Amino acid sequence: MCGIVGAIAERQVSAILVEGLKRLEYRGYDSAGVAVYTDAGQLQRCRRTGKVVELEQALQAEPLVGRLGIAHTRWATHGAPSEANAHPHFSSTDLAVVHNGIIENHESLRGELQALGYVFSSQTDTETIVHLLHHLLKSHADLADALKAAVRQLHGAYGLAVISAAQPDRLLAARSGSPLVIGLGLGENFLASDPLALRQVTDRFIYLEEGDIAEIRRDSLQIWDAQGQAVLRDMVQYHEQAEAADKGEYRHYMLKEIHEQPKVVQRTLEDRLAADHVLTQAFGPQAGELFGRVRNVQIVACGTSYHAGLVARYWLEALTGVPCQVEVASEFRYRQVAVQPDALFVTISQSGETADTLAALRNAKDAGYLASLAICNVGTSSLVRESDLTLLTRAGPEIGVASTKAFTTQLVGLLLLTLAIGRARGSLPAAVEADAVQALRGLPGLLKQALDMDGQIEKVAEAFAEKHHSLFLGRGEQYPVAMEGALKLKEISYIHAEAYPAGELKHGPLALVDSDMPVVTVAPNNELLEKLKSNLQEVRARGGQLIVFADRDAQLENGEGTRVINMPHSHALLAPILYTVPLQLLSYHVAVLKGTDVDQPRNLAKSVTVE
Ligand code: F6R
Repeated sequence: MCGIVGAIAERQVSAILVEGLKRLEYRGYDSAGVAVYTDAGQLQRCRRTGKVVELEQALQAEPLVGRLGIAHTRWATHGAPSEANAHPHFSSTDLAVVHNGIIENHESLRGELQALGYVFSSQTDTETIVHLLHHLLKSHADLADALKAAVRQLHGAYGLAVISAAQPDRLLAARSGSPLVIGLGLGENFLASDPLALRQVTDRFIYLEEGDIAEIRRDSLQIWDAQGQAVLRDMVQYHEQAEAADKGEYRHYMLKEIHEQPKVVQRTLEDRLAADHVLTQAFGPQAGELFGRVRNVQIVACGTSYHAGLVARYWLEALTGVPCQVEVASEFRYRQVAVQPDALFVTISQSGETADTLAALRNAKDAGYLASLAICNVGTSSLVRESDLTLLTRAGPEIGVASTKAFTTQLVGLLLLTLAIGRARGSLPAAVEADAVQALRGLPGLLKQALDMDGQIEKVAEAFAEKHHSLFLGRGEQYPVAMEGALKLKEISYIHAEAYPAGELKHGPLALVDSDMPVVTVAPNNELLEKLKSNLQEVRARGGQLIVFADRDAQLENGEGTRVINMPHSHALLAPILYTVPLQLLSYHVAVLKGTDVDQPRNLAKSVTVE
């Protein structure tokens, strides 16, 4: 999704801005641009469609030399990806704006501004902001005052960075619905939509809150809240190494992140397990008392995180007896929901900034839920800051657009939640919890065994590379695992993939099956195995090509049209986490064979901060 970087310094800023944009590349974008207030006293910009490296080359050919600047990677919402639509947008030659988010009333604003004589050079909603600000500067001499007046007229979501040739000693920022963070330096300050963009220049950050406006100068900072009151916001210092900075020995971030899973799962479990039970306080000081009162769980999330929620429903209902509903956030947020008594509202998100999930949480605030809990990978995210309880998944920065280690650590977090709720309510026998805790301790080792199967899976991928469609089957809690496998494949290889509960096959999708249709199945050795085997026979009888990831004791054999890959034996509760790994590897290898852009697949963004 769109990225913002800004800088005001004694030194030249172009290289810092471009480096920041490169660090945000993983979020997905289709054009990039930079505007600098040059040492010659002019605002100048450079914009390019395509990758940041093209912008960088253009800047090498014609440098923008200055000490104040803003930069942007754009993921098209209003208007096609083109140089004219790329940010920064100018009004006249003295005002430049970059914007993340969507301005919903841009059409009416555009009409009003055109009536005032403003000429638009793009189809973007952003251009209305820069002209509106330009117009308001006629009645508000100070840039911050004009920006405060401008945002009062904007409906929608925005993270904004503004510079002006008339007031070149400041960089302005405004946040509503789209995250912004200020990076603090010595005699220089920075702005970005994600601190990752600024880790090369600082480790000290101030997060803007909803409605904040900031005036950032080289050696001072002023922030006003939504009511216009001057406020001080806390500074956060990062100590941990930026571990995502490079791909190391791996060809792609996605492969690196798949292989990091044993380590990050281990980290997610650290300090959270006692000898025979889950430490409920890991969710927050009030968690024990609140979990004891839970009579219902509502999970809301998007994409891969939604799939994690679907697995959790099986665990929660089976182990705690608590009814659980799971819904995608973009549906939940616009629905009149009948809230159950004593329902815990759970959001799941890698980024913690997904617009729909965040909106659902905000709606839930006044809806009568017992409490809100975020299972999230980013401790400083809006979702975490706005939830009553939190469990951080500690997967580390995930750069590949296709989510991998975030998903498995979410599943670990959700299993911990299930066990914690079960014990707090007294509905989970102590022996069952102790057994699950012991199994969890062995999970990193089990995942390593699954990763060792990489070579075999790479061979299986060859059967896929020429195909156009595929089916993924699972039963029980493996059905959402199949959904996640299908999502991974379509995201990065662009092969059409559908997931079905295996028992549903004969109610329609079986009509699709022929020798051109690979059918991927996850088959742990559980009580549904025999039923699953019958479903597989139905596929074979129609010539379907089966690829089965099966427990080594499942007694499924290779044969004509059937490729069985034996999986290590696992505790039933861990099977959804274990069986996810070969599906991730399968998608990865198919995408590599097809030559797609694995880490930044077409049309997708990492952090979806617009609805
Ligand atoms: C798929 C993927 C997306 C995200 C979804 C939610 O690989 O990455 O489907 O899972 O956009 O994002 P978060 O988890 O950041 O809320």
